[in-house]
Amino acid sequence: MFEKFFSERIKNTPSSFIREILKVTQKPEIISFAGGLPNPVSFPKEELKVSFDNITKKYGDKIYQYSTTMGLDSLREFIVQRYKKLWGMDITIDNVIITTGSQQALDLIGKVFLNDNDKVMVEKPSYLGLLQAFCMYLADFVPTKLNLDGLDIEELKKTISVHKPKLAYLIPNFQNPTGLTYTKENREAIFEIIKDEDLILIQDDPYGELRFTDDERIPYIGANQNDKNIYLGSFSKIVTPGMRLGYIIATKEIIRMLETAKQASDLHTNIFGQYLISDYLENNDLDEHIKSIKKLYKEQAETMINAMEENFPKNITFTRPKGGMFSWVTLPEGKSSLKLFDCAIRRNVAFVPGNPFYVDYTKDVNTLRLNYTNADSKTIKEGIKRLAEALGEI
Ligand SMILES: Cc1ncc(COP(=O)(O)O)c(C=O)c1O
Repeated sequence: MFEKFFSERIKNTPSSFIREILKVTQKPEIISFAGGLPNPVSFPKEELKVSFDNITKKYGDKIYQYSTTMGLDSLREFIVQRYKKLWGMDITIDNVIITTGSQQALDLIGKVFLNDNDKVMVEKPSYLGLLQAFCMYLADFVPTKLNLDGLDIEELKKTISVHKPKLAYLIPNFQNPTGLTYTKENREAIFEIIKDEDLILIQDDPYGELRFTDDERIPYIGANQNDKNIYLGSFSKIVTPGMRLGYIIATKEIIRMLETAKQASDLHTNIFGQYLISDYLENNDLDEHIKSIKKLYKEQAETMINAMEENFPKNITFTRPKGGMFSWVTLPEGKSSLKLFDCAIRRNVAFVPGNPFYVDYTKDVNTLRLNYTNADSKTIKEGIKRLAEALGEI
């Protein structure tokens, strides 16, 4: 009945398939590897309680008042210092804008850069939240294959020369959905190809800090060499997602436009949450906290990988993430992950079928995403056993 009233933008955008799945998986008897939720035991609840008292005493009414679009200076300064320390980035707070999670960062970037049918290069598969956000701006996606070591370089060359995309959106660390990380060599090869192009490169990195091994950090693509780089970060996976705090780092000219877009969107990000997290970061050791999350997720990832090795037929492959929250499973050619989903749900175990991570999301695929961060070892083992049974059935 309301069809004629709705905008082309919203009609163009698929409703979140994953939300539909999460509805099914919410039943208490289901073992769910479907979500992408951090483990709640990792939330620093006691420390945040102390921070609540601190900010109430220290800032009074300010924590409840309207505030600035760019975000709290102390929080932006924390981000500046952290990126200087970790990545040697030469930035100031004028290069940082606080957003309502990284998800809003994606929406703002769409608003600022995309005209109808502008080409956007994405990984194949990509983060479904980005596909949904940019669908709203009628983006024309050009997917580039992802290999175990990063983007497929030959395909990238072709994508760039044929389509001349305006934006490229990549998740180089512990990618969602595959758990893959681009190697240093792959990143350097990508930069050689794109550096002279008219291309804005977005690197979304909510999982980069969750590296299980002590290997050195791999620098971002074109780090410190490219004015057209945009970096996204988030406190969702390293402190709490509930406060909805993310940020964008970019050159001042880009940040100014994002600030205007954000004014129009929500005036500013929840200031109470910004004060709270800023105080938490000031008074606690974030590195120590992250260390404990990594230890937990490493054990969970190992449990899941070992269980898959023991129980899955040998013609099923899966990624072995060195960080982050996901493993990506590939069934033999021609097998359907949707069909597997039905068989798995009958056994009370759930995952996300691969479809929504592809631009052509209506097509049946033989891939699926498993999340390991939100179940204990016993549950992971049991869930994988049931999934193996469902695999036997298809
Ligand atoms: C790659 C990627 N980007 C962005 C987000 C959004 O995160 P948030 O809005 O909580 O910062 C997620 C969440 O799972 C993600 O996986």
